[in-house]
Amino acid sequence: MLIDGKKRTAIWPDPNGEGVFIIDQTRLPHAVETVLLRELADAARAIRDMQVRGAPLIGVTAAYGMALAMRADQSDETMSKAAEILRATRPTAVNLAWALARMTTFLGPMPEPLRRDAAFAFAKHLAEKDVACNEAIGEHGLALIRAAAEKRRGQPVRILTHCNAGWLATVDWGTATAPIYKAQAAGIPLHVFVDETRPRNQGASLTAFELGQQKVPHTLIVDNAGGHLMQRGEIDLALVGADRIAANGDVCNKIGTYLKALAARDCGLPFYVAAPVSTLDFALAEGGLIPIEERAPDEVTFISGLADSGEVIQVRIAPRDTQARNPGFDVTPARLVSGIITEKGVFDARGQALAALA
Ligand code: MRU
Repeated sequence: MLIDGKKRTAIWPDPNGEGVFIIDQTRLPHAVETVLLRELADAARAIRDMQVRGAPLIGVTAAYGMALAMRADQSDETMSKAAEILRATRPTAVNLAWALARMTTFLGPMPEPLRRDAAFAFAKHLAEKDVACNEAIGEHGLALIRAAAEKRRGQPVRILTHCNAGWLATVDWGTATAPIYKAQAAGIPLHVFVDETRPRNQGASLTAFELGQQKVPHTLIVDNAGGHLMQRGEIDLALVGADRIAANGDVCNKIGTYLKALAARDCGLPFYVAAPVSTLDFALAEGGLIPIEERAPDEVTFISGLADSGEVIQVRIAPRDTQARNPGFDVTPARLVSGIITEKGVFDARGQALAALA
């Protein structure tokens, strides 16, 4: 997708072979800065500190992290140590474990001297596959937006989204945004309502940024406004991403997603989840078993933003001794999900067909 009119991806190999570049997402939207990841520790830090975030991008960064570890030492021991370090960075998005499993299954049987180059090539292959999956999600989701557009008779289709399941959360296209970008390209009028997504505000800082760069009409709303807009008939459908989907179709995504799904059900609106098959975790029978990341309370008691000085600062918004709790994700039961849009088609979250993707 585009930043300042130039085609960008969220991660790309250094043409000089020094490592892999990322866009530092902790600096967006105020600055577009790139960071070169040269070794395993850089990749692990980038995931842990959320310079990269979003389930598919975490997975691809972990794959490159493994490749960076293999540049230094190609032994079995380094491979399993690297996987352990990367797996410990963030617990909820299953794409991380998925990518590490793909890397170790590929590299494991290979003679050690071949692993160095093969690891990097395979990480690049996973990155390219992510782009293709998301584009396919876009095509499948486009059909749903087209159907909504027919009912709107030329008026913009109004889509509510939560967090950032955009191209910045993947290598390119995004998951929830892929159908939006495809619909825009098809000339379907759209308007996206962007939940700010407290506490880290990925909606305000990332989704609003990327939709703005792509010139998709959008409006930023506070997290609590979605239900009100749905009730007033100002939303046609909700479209979100996922960090992990259990075998029974329960969807784990950014905290607050569940409330949007409840409101959508109450208002009789479709609630769609867009995710690649790599986000499905058939090892977990139901959503209650998904590990939910508990993040620092400081993210709740402080808020960060751009000061008049041009500096990004943190300001306290609660009394000094306030206790805060900060679960990063929640689980939306499958019964509230209208459909899961994958690269293989749109599936009923509770249907048999979803299980066939295992
Ligand atoms: O904490 P984050 O920013 O990594 O959370 C991201 C989300 O919850 C996204 O909605 C999800 O990963 C889907 S990304 C295509």
